[in-house]
Amino acid sequence: MARVPVKLVSWEEIVEWSRGLADRIEESGWRPDVVVAVARGGFVPARLICDFLDITDLLSVQSQHWVEAARAAQKAILKYPYRVDLEGKKVLIVDDIVDTGDTLLLAKEFVEREWGPSETRTAAMQWISSVAKFKPDYYYLEVRDWVWFQYPWTRLEDTMQFIARILREDERARSGVSEDELKSIFREWYGVDPEELGFYWELALKRLREKGVVRAENGKLLPR
Ligand code: ADE
Repeated sequence: MARVPVKLVSWEEIVEWSRGLADRIEESGWRPDVVVAVARGGFVPARLICDFLDITDLLSVQSQHWVEAARAAQKAILKYPYRVDLEGKKVLIVDDIVDTGDTLLLAKEFVEREWGPSETRTAAMQWISSVAKFKPDYYYLEVRDWVWFQYPWTRLEDTMQFIARILREDERARSGVSEDELKSIFREWYGVDPEELGFYWELALKRLREKGVVRAENGKLLPR
């Protein structure tokens, strides 16, 4: 059993899930005038939904997570709280996933308060029902057991973070490992074979070396 359960998501699955989500919206008989993507995760699903539903108006708000002083929990904030006039418009707010639900809820409240639409609804490809504090109006998959969806648009970023975490937290890696040993620890931790990551594996290691997170010494990889 992996320490951090990861589901590697393909581009084909993204198209299939976004299509399924668009179908649910269409079947409900409701049609948005404007789609708002929650950056960065909602960009690709929002763009695909626009394509599948023949919608031209696509805007975005960007959420960011801050670690509050003296608190372990992260707080979601909107990075650029700009204003636009959406009076009389029906707005669909799209994110990739509803995990805690903080991000999508924040975006919805912001758009309702500041942009003045006649109605907002929310949509995500995945809804983690066991942890989310709210249920989106539209979702494609309900997930009960928490898993990290490794979406194709964060493959490099996630691979770097996965490796960095091993180097920080795994006793074997802290004292230096060969690349093959690192691959085997990676499989153990995340249930993903680095071979499935293709060029991302090598690129992640290169970036981590450039950033000074990893150093190579006598054929071993070590944390800085
Ligand atoms: N963003 C927030 N929660 C996530 C999850 N479980 N998988 C992928 N991206 C996420």
